[in-house]
Amino acid sequence: MFILNKTHSVANSFLAELRDESIQIDRLRFRENLKRLGILLAYEISKDLSFKPRVVKTSLSETTTAVIADDLVIISILRAAIPFSEGFVSVFDHAEVGFIGAARKEGGEEVEIALDYTAAPDITNKTVIIVDPMLATGKSLVKSMEKLRTNGTPKNVHLASVIAAPEGIEFINKNLDLDFKIWTCALDERLNEMSYIVPGLGDAGDLAFGPKL
Ligand code: URA
Repeated sequence: MFILNKTHSVANSFLAELRDESIQIDRLRFRENLKRLGILLAYEISKDLSFKPRVVKTSLSETTTAVIADDLVIISILRAAIPFSEGFVSVFDHAEVGFIGAARKEGGEEVEIALDYTAAPDITNKTVIIVDPMLATGKSLVKSMEKLRTNGTPKNVHLASVIAAPEGIEFINKNLDLDFKIWTCALDERLNEMSYIVPGLGDAGDLAFGPKL
């Protein structure tokens, strides 16, 4: 697992603003900080991809440079992932992009996830990056991956989050029977009784877009 804030960088300032209750109420700034972390985490993931040589003709001569060889698919888990995945899409500008609508079902004691919308490409032999900013219970990621499997067998799977909880990581490790790598900007302490991440930042979807009915 890769944890971005293990190394001091500007990412820590973006994370601090996302968490700070006096700053996170500025929705535009909240979304922008998610996007900025998406850009930084995409850059880190890019170091793990396959590369191939490309000859580039400059106005003076020619040079060879290594460029990404993988066919990338970015899957955005609606709705909270939209600003974070914008960062990924701006870095991996040739990637195909898919969407999965995953929502917590209200009422039950256990968190249950309903998938009510999927629009995703063929993922056969492609490198899939699933973007879900809050890796809390891990259930939406496991359900999303089960759904995506009907779209082919990927070459690699990367799970990208802003904040992860140890319980979610454990659930994913137990329930995803394929190779994957987890990338997160921060690994927090625990989940509370409502399955929110502590210290976390609150409800990422509500903070980015406003409360829903
Ligand atoms: N989703 C959120 O937005 N926040 C959490 O803490 C957990 C899940």
